[in-house]
Amino acid sequence: MAGLCFDMYGTLCDTSSVRARLGEELGVAETLVAAVDETWRRKQLQYSYQSAQMDDYEPFWSITTHALDYALAQYDLDPDAETRERIRDAYDHLEPFSGAAETLDRLSAAGHDVVILSNGNPEMLERLAENAGLLAHVDDIISAHAVRTFKPDPAVYEHAAETLGRSLPDCRLVSSNAWDVAGAGNAGMATTWVNRQRDPPETIGAEPDRRVTTLPAVAEGLR
Ligand code: LAC
Repeated sequence: MAGLCFDMYGTLCDTSSVRARLGEELGVAETLVAAVDETWRRKQLQYSYQSAQMDDYEPFWSITTHALDYALAQYDLDPDAETRERIRDAYDHLEPFSGAAETLDRLSAAGHDVVILSNGNPEMLERLAENAGLLAHVDDIISAHAVRTFKPDPAVYEHAAETLGRSLPDCRLVSSNAWDVAGAGNAGMATTWVNRQRDPPETIGAEPDRRVTTLPAVAEGLR
């Protein structure tokens, strides 16, 4: 039995579900919505790495806000403050991927500790877990906020292992984010990569121990 640490954004919940809100609020063509979404997510991750590297921590909610401002500016879009807030609040209402709650339940029933381990700050994680119907299906939510840095900084994976009272190899990160898997493996965690897009693995950092293409498949091999 292991401590199973599920990544939230992109793994349990679909970040591209913000597209519906972007479309409603911006009223622009679908291709532009997709481009803003892609830039928003890419910048959000980049800003989290930069913030950790610069030792200038800001909670992930504020990183997400800065990234949205960048993405809008990139495409010469300038909605007012209330509209920006409504767009950003879509992050509280992301859709869970199919089978998310059932997978968490199956793994709990098999005796594993099942937690969320995310760069999100605790408040945003709790709001999303509640809205996505996942809160009742995990034992705990562990946030990078506690150590004021972001994955893939080893400090975050170490913090998760400590919180679970387990050694790093006795914990497993389950993530769709290849960089997260490479980082957790480097820190000494076991890893499962949920590779929905059939991407190549990262060429730096540790290789995933296990690869699956859907969340329900995570439970198949880990009974
Ligand atoms: C998470 C994102 C950044 O940590 O994937 O949930």
